[in-house]
Amino acid sequence: MSMTRHFISFKDLSRDEYFEVMNLAAALKAERRNGNYLHQHFRGRSLGMIFNKNSTRTRVSFECGITELGGHAVVLSEGQTQFSRGEPISHSARVLSRYLAAIVIRTFAQSQLDDLARYGAIPIINALTDEGHPCQVLTDIFTAIEKFPGEPLEKIKMAWIGDGNNMANSWAEAAGVLGFPLTLACPEGYQPDPRILAEAQRANPQVRLVVDPREAAAGAWAINTDVWASMGQEGEQAQREKAFKGIYVVDSALMAQAAPGAIFMHCLPAHIGEEVTGEVLESPASAIFDEAENRLHAQKGLMKFLIP
Ligand code: CP
Ligand code: NVA
Repeated sequence: MSMTRHFISFKDLSRDEYFEVMNLAAALKAERRNGNYLHQHFRGRSLGMIFNKNSTRTRVSFECGITELGGHAVVLSEGQTQFSRGEPISHSARVLSRYLAAIVIRTFAQSQLDDLARYGAIPIINALTDEGHPCQVLTDIFTAIEKFPGEPLEKIKMAWIGDGNNMANSWAEAAGVLGFPLTLACPEGYQPDPRILAEAQRANPQVRLVVDPREAAAGAWAINTDVWASMGQEGEQAQREKAFKGIYVVDSALMAQAAPGAIFMHCLPAHIGEEVTGEVLESPASAIFDEAENRLHAQKGLMKFLIP
């Protein structure tokens, strides 16, 4: 019996496996561009989708992705399942494993994913938690490789500007696994998870944490940012503005510090005029809609890799 593989954190796959997933994604993307949308790979099989936070890209790209691979999505809406009435996760995980091929889950606590994986028998895919957003970072790396054809990933110097949130944590983990240079510029008090950062730095000494965004942007090939207050932190917006406003902003002046031909990346949704200016979002350097499209291709590759 083969061991169930999960994608709970970016550390769940090896470097070689990521390239396998990205090759699958690139092939599926090329086929789709040629009009071949529908595969039969997951014919008759179902993907469970649990979303305890809002989502546009992740939900739609997974639902379209499983459909295009011949399968079907079952959306388990918050408030309508028995686990939202308190049925133990140890029971829910074993029940759902009897029906579904895999579960995609967006929620708050990372421990819920660990529990689903512990008690269930099917792959668990992290669709965003407070701790990480590995599907987005996988997609962003796939997108960056596409934008710099012929360049090895190890040369693509990444910058993260802003909150040390779930995205920043997954970027740090990704740099640890894949070995590319990453500088994160975050304000004091809003830095990535120290355990995740330390582990990434042990694996890859080119992972750096600084305070000044200009230091991260200098010579970067890709400048990445995200909102100042993530889902669940809306009540902290005013307090967070004090730490971020006017400093952790990707504007044309900051982009000018980057390497010639550098791209701008954002997982979206963006708060225009807060962490990024409208000018940068709409500039030719902006990769935001390619990132959004690539969620579909990268996750199709991921599902083909993970689901036996
Ligand atoms: N980037 C991202 O995960 O978007 P959604 O919140 O719309 O899924
Ligand atoms: N950091 C953001 C990402 C949204 C896709 C959040 O968690 O709200």
